[in-house]
Amino acid sequence: MKRILIVGAGGQIGTELAPFLQKHYGVENVIAADLREEMVKKLSQNGPALRLDACQIEPFAEVVKNNKIDAIFNLVALLSAKGELNPRHAWDINMGALLNSLDIAKEYNCALFTPSSIGAFGNDTPKDLTPQDTIMRPNTMYGVCKVSAELLSDYYFTKFGVDTRSVRFPGIISNGALPGGGTTDYAVEVFYEILKNGHYTCEVPEDRYMDMLYMPDALQAIIQLMEADPDKLVHRNSFNITSMSFTPNQLFAEIKKHLPDATFDYNIDPIKDAISASWPNKLDDSCARKEWGWNPQWGIENMVEDMLKVIKTKI
Ligand code: SER
Repeated sequence: MKRILIVGAGGQIGTELAPFLQKHYGVENVIAADLREEMVKKLSQNGPALRLDACQIEPFAEVVKNNKIDAIFNLVALLSAKGELNPRHAWDINMGALLNSLDIAKEYNCALFTPSSIGAFGNDTPKDLTPQDTIMRPNTMYGVCKVSAELLSDYYFTKFGVDTRSVRFPGIISNGALPGGGTTDYAVEVFYEILKNGHYTCEVPEDRYMDMLYMPDALQAIIQLMEADPDKLVHRNSFNITSMSFTPNQLFAEIKKHLPDATFDYNIDPIKDAISASWPNKLDDSCARKEWGWNPQWGIENMVEDMLKVIKTKI
């Protein structure tokens, strides 16, 4: 990877991936693109940034061609809970950006990273130590898009030789840009609310296990997979990865160790309840460990300590 384009760079992952890749590959070699003008302005404070609608293939292809891009990171996505409010719109956005990325990667010989998600699993998936290769029948539009993206990405690899690679991200916890419209968002929101108001009302049931990842491990995963020796990859789209799995109750208990006066209650959102009930408790990430050396560094204890420290200085 020498010349990189990130589309959908203004979201939770992109706002941290752009400066991370710029540090590794040189500021001028990483272009951050987003549809929203205000995000482009923010991204341009770190390096090259431009406004681009990844669902429009011609301007997207122009940017790739004119900048001699050889790797595309497609982070365009409407997340799980928001996607349920307008499923057809979620399909158009998620699949529009994906199909354009695939065709452009094929045409201009680019590597392509498109994250998948725990949302690709469903009620029939084994919940504990969810295998790499297993039943995938999601019941959200977000999940349907993610399974489709995995299949299409593998298809473009086997049929056309496009170097597509991907991970199934769990909920990502971070202290940069906020996630929006996801089922795992509670695990980020809680830190801001507790530090601002001392109280948090959670929309996900207290005993619902889900996999999570702290952003530094997520960024490391992306670069490690994209730099991995292709001969060692048995799988491509997409690898299970995780570094911790907890319930809201367990996360809040960990926060209380630092802030004993913090209070929590629940007001369950039926959409997030149904979605989180259909997702795994804990993934088996042994294929990622074996095939490209996945080795996360963050667990619930050091993550909570770090999140509280960083967000305290932000507020
Ligand atoms: N964080 C995402 C969501 O909750 C899952 O990939 O929608």
